[in-house]
Amino acid sequence: MDDIDAMNAEPDKKVFIKTYGCQMNVYDSQRMEDVLSGEGYVGTDQPEAADLVILNTCHIREKAAEKVYSELGRLRNYKHGREKTGNDMLIAVAGCVAQAEGEEIIRRAPIVDIVFGPQTYQRLPEFLHRRQAGESAIVETEFPTEDKFDRLDQSDRVRGPRTAVARGVSAFLTVQEGCNKFCSFCVVPYTRGAEFSRPVERIIGEATRLVAAGVREITLLGQNVNAYRGAASDGCSWSLGHLLAGLSEIEGLERLRYTTSHPRDMDDELIAQHATNPKVMPYLHLPVQSGSDRVLKAMNRRHTVEDYIAVIERLRRVRQDIALSGDFIVGFPGETEADFEATMSLVRQVTYAQAYSFKYSSRPGTPAADRSDQVDDYVKIDRLSRLQSLLGDQQREFNGSCIGREFPLLLERSGRHDGQLVGRSPYLQAVHVSSNQAQIGDMVNVRVEKAGANSLSAHII
Ligand code: 5AD
Ligand code: SF4
Repeated sequence: MDDIDAMNAEPDKKVFIKTYGCQMNVYDSQRMEDVLSGEGYVGTDQPEAADLVILNTCHIREKAAEKVYSELGRLRNYKHGREKTGNDMLIAVAGCVAQAEGEEIIRRAPIVDIVFGPQTYQRLPEFLHRRQAGESAIVETEFPTEDKFDRLDQSDRVRGPRTAVARGVSAFLTVQEGCNKFCSFCVVPYTRGAEFSRPVERIIGEATRLVAAGVREITLLGQNVNAYRGAASDGCSWSLGHLLAGLSEIEGLERLRYTTSHPRDMDDELIAQHATNPKVMPYLHLPVQSGSDRVLKAMNRRHTVEDYIAVIERLRRVRQDIALSGDFIVGFPGETEADFEATMSLVRQVTYAQAYSFKYSSRPGTPAADRSDQVDDYVKIDRLSRLQSLLGDQQREFNGSCIGREFPLLLERSGRHDGQLVGRSPYLQAVHVSSNQAQIGDMVNVRVEKAGANSLSAHII
């Protein structure tokens, strides 16, 4: 830009985006920022100073919607404060609460200007222009037939590599969205819609741009990522295993991960990648939710405990050092003490490096919400604390078992002390090292010296 352009340019508008929930929302928020940067917006971390505030919301468990309404209460004061100075603040609610609640959000929080679901964020500039032109509050929660990624990719082509979302050395890349599984507790098939896989070349293009911008590790995202079936220019439909193989040919890309997977979709091609592709990390997030066949059936998981164990055995056969993570729900309607004990015994049998566990939360519109045999909250609290204590022990044990081991570390950020750097192990643990030479983005070999509950420390060898 020359000097005259700089003088005439409008000052940047500021956008504050608050992201709730899963990694896909993190990715979506970054893409919203990219879309908005084309409209002259820059990010700010101060909501009170923002011209546009977006809450990118999550609906997966209890209180998610309530948190959004209380945040909107806080924003009301900021908005009124700015109106007094003659500056407007636009407020938008995006994501899964927006999708599920729609108009209700405007009714309960009239300060909201725009409500838009996860399938429409590429149209954000249009919504802003319409609202600024005086249209009444906008609610867009349709599932459009056009592919949102297509629209985003077009803007990529126009603006070239600048739009590649490179934030640090590790990046997320959405390859699949939506879910056709309809587990009876879950809102995702309703808020994110049917399964959709992005075409292969688009993904490889985006990954190549990320790597050119300094990214060394890519985590492929999807609600059902291992159900990925993407069209490729060779006329074939690629599975996730095939896609991992294709992506690993990108020079400079060191590590690949993927999340979240469903046990039913762990096919041979994907499992083989863990055996043969050194870029695929030996770590897998594979939710099982419950260790009781009776509960799995009621959850409509469409697999048994035995099926799940068989998948883990196949993985461990080809990749002995694979570490596992999972998701568990306690207190699903009708869950008895014996069902819960079956979950505990499955956890003891599998052993997890890390895991997430939740109290069942009734989600309006899902089949399980209508059941009359809901479990009392005090029972859920008790089961959750027993399960979390077991999972916590396993995590400490896994971290402790790493002492003395050597592995490559991808350095991601600086630590709290001078000369301290923090990287990720192949098993996604945060690992602290001291070095005056190594830099963020380097891959270094380390030997682990100490282990804590949530992180390790190591020295570079
Ligand atoms: N209640 C509790 N946990 C849930 N999850 C999804 N829906 C619910 C619900 N209604 C959990 C599952 C899933 C993770 C992302 O969130 O464990 O794997
Ligand atoms: Fe929800 Fe089940 Fe789909 Fe996962 S597989 S997103 S838990 S419906």
